[in-house]
Amino acid sequence: MAEQIKVGVVGCGYWGPNLVRNFRSIAGCHLKLMCDISEVRLAHVRSLYPDVEGEVDFKHMLNGAGLDAVVIATSVKMHYPMAKASLLAGKHTFIEKPMAATSHECEELIEIARKNGLVLMVGHTFLYSPAVRKIKEIVDNGDLGEIRYICARRLNLGLFQKDINVAWDLAPHDISIILHILEEQPISINCRGTAHITPGVEDVTSMCLHFPKERSAIIHSSWLDPRKVREMTIVGSKRMIVYDDVAQQEKIKVFDTRVERPPHYDTFAEFHYAYHYGDMYVPYIKQEEPLKAECQHFLDCIRSEATPLTDGHRGVELVRILEAASRSLKASGAPIDLSRPRNFHHSIHDLSARPGRAKEKSLAPSASETCSRS
Ligand SMILES: NC(=O)c1ccc[n+]([C@@H]2O[C@H](COP(=O)([O-])OP(=O)(O)OC[C@H]3O[C@@H](n4cnc5c(N)ncnc54)[C@H](O)[C@@H]3O)[C@@H](O)[C@H]2O)c1
Repeated sequence: MAEQIKVGVVGCGYWGPNLVRNFRSIAGCHLKLMCDISEVRLAHVRSLYPDVEGEVDFKHMLNGAGLDAVVIATSVKMHYPMAKASLLAGKHTFIEKPMAATSHECEELIEIARKNGLVLMVGHTFLYSPAVRKIKEIVDNGDLGEIRYICARRLNLGLFQKDINVAWDLAPHDISIILHILEEQPISINCRGTAHITPGVEDVTSMCLHFPKERSAIIHSSWLDPRKVREMTIVGSKRMIVYDDVAQQEKIKVFDTRVERPPHYDTFAEFHYAYHYGDMYVPYIKQEEPLKAECQHFLDCIRSEATPLTDGHRGVELVRILEAASRSLKASGAPIDLSRPRNFHHSIHDLSARPGRAKEKSLAPSASETCSRS
């Protein structure tokens, strides 16, 4: 690998420019090319970064620019064809979340990357945030005791999407954090939702993931709320964490709070729950932009031939959960069993086919500060 890794970013709409900005700022990376099919978007990003080449044709980007790596930030349905073409052209490939529209597509991409010895990474940005890394450290130290449940809320007004519902747009962030913390897969999922604004595209969803040993996670996602909320509560048997990603400071609060049942009692009068209200503390968290750490990690993995923290396997796990959520939505919230392998691939394509369907380092803001949709 040459000293400079030559990177191109395709998709310069809402999110792509954040990737462009970060890759451009990392030493050892040459952000060589930005590609967007829209001349208007391309002209805009070129006005910001005139030193970076622009291209409207993705094929030319793959074949003519001498890139080592391709970063894909287009709409979800374009992830698979673009990532496949990129991997087959021998490029290390980074795909924004969610990895693809079906788990089938994800599996194929994993296999192509494996066969060709290429890095395939998915943009589960929050796993690179100092706040989530701190939460993981606290959980892994056993400070919370046994995790009982996690409740996540990611709400704001817009941005309304036409091709994916709010679960496919916002819930990937929460699902990726929850799977990272619990280190296990759900055994069943149910999801309910309503399309208030765009017919057939749910803008409010409530998903429940059920894990072994009675553990669960509830994820409420909405494009239809007056406030921007990015909150997660992690309830353990010994302590609880409240993580507020919108907070400028004190993003994580650890509460020494719990409730215990008496081990045994003889009469009802003797029975009392023991509520424990202890101190609350705020762990120190470094101010680092998660996206920058994520971009750096991609480059580090290319250099060292390491497997990314958020590799294709993490990507497909998440897409399987979204597929199950789509099935459950279609079945009015019926639980979908994931405890045994099944051969279903209910994708965002199916959503649009339904009747009535419309289709680690810098001083910078957090992911949620650079993206109201994250
Ligand atoms: N990691 C995060 O925190 C985060 C946050 C927001 C969005 N995202 C993800 O980023 C991706 C892009 O989202 P967005 O909101 O920027 O979408 P967007 O629609 O604003 O931008 C997509 C861009 O891709 C371009 N495009 C489409 N087809 C193309 C083609 N064939 N060739 C070249 N360019 C093409 C479009 O012209 C558009 O400018 C999505 O996967 C989304 O889920 C991630």
